This record gives sequence, C-alpha cells and structure tokens, in this order.
Amino acid sequence: MKAVARVRRTWIVNGEERKLSVAPMRRLLDILRADLGLYGAKEGCGEGECGACTVLINGEPRVACLTVAAQIPDGTEILTIEGLADTAEGRILQEAFVSGGAVQCGFCIPGMLMAAYALLLNNSEPSEEDVRRALAGNLCRCTGYVNIVKAVLAAARRLNETHRAESQGEQA
Ligand code: FES
Ligand code: FES
Repeated sequence: MKAVARVRRTWIVNGEERKLSVAPMRRLLDILRADLGLYGAKEGCGEGECGACTVLINGEPRVACLTVAAQIPDGTEILTIEGLADTAEGRILQEAFVSGGAVQCGFCIPGMLMAAYALLLNNSEPSEEDVRRALAGNLCRCTGYVNIVKAVLAAARRLNETHRAESQGEQA
C-alpha cells in the first residue's frame, strides 16, 4: 500500500509554536479542531460561505474550511478565538458582544469576533458601513446583525478611550 504523503509544518498558533506532520490537503479547520484541540472555529457550511470557521492568518481573516496545510508556510502566525482573549482588543470585543446582547445561539460568534478583531487592527475608528463590510462574509441566522454591528462600534469606542487614557497617563 502506498504511504500517504505528509508535510511538516511549524506554525505559531495563538502565540505558541506548534509542530505538525499532516497531509498537504488537510483542511486547517480539521487541523485546529481534531489535531490541536481548538474547537472554537466552527464548521457551518464547509464551503467558504458562512464565515463560522474564520481565523486570522498573519493578521488577515481567512476561512479555515477552504485553507489547507500546503498553503500555510512555516512560521505563519495563526490566531483563533481561543487566543483572542489574550489580547486587549479581543477582551473588549468579547465584553461588548456580551453586554450588547449580540449573542444568541452563539454559533457564528467566534467567526464574527475574529473578523471584527481583524477590522479593529486596521481601522480604529470604523464607521457602521466599515463594520458591515468587514462582517459581510459572516452569516448569522439569529440576531439580524444589528446588535453585532453595535457591539463592534462600542468596542472600537471603548478601545479608543482606553488608548487615550493610557497615553494621558504616560504624559502625566
Ligand atoms: S464553515 Fe468555513 S465558511 Fe462556512
Ligand atoms: S447568534 Fe446564532 S447564528 Fe449568530
């Protein structure tokens, strides 16, 4: 029987070096969930349509169901929802979602948070339209999106207040 080819990869997942030996076409979603025990990224459609599996690859949101091991070189930084709470932005976003009533069944929320986090990394004062555009690839069947968009805008305001308070503290 012919041995299945494997690729060796070393990635930085949520800040930790992870070494893997996997089939080149193994989906990142399966690697995260089955091989690394990171169950936060969800499988909704499995076809790149719903955004439930969104993670950040080198700071960019990507759907893990359509990304395979062979496409991700050594040294790539991957951030999942499990690593988000280790960032100030992630914590503020999560608090804003909870306090703003933006979560119903919760299935879409990990992907939403990752897409929102990627937005806030690049745009500290997003407009409502910016938020809607950034979340356009993330489907939610429960909320109607209104509270999700409001929560991202609230998190952006809160982050700016925090940064202002920090810089005033440094100057004092
Ligand atoms: S499960 Fe990946 S986009 Fe839907
Ligand atoms: S909260 Fe249920 S799918 Fe979004």
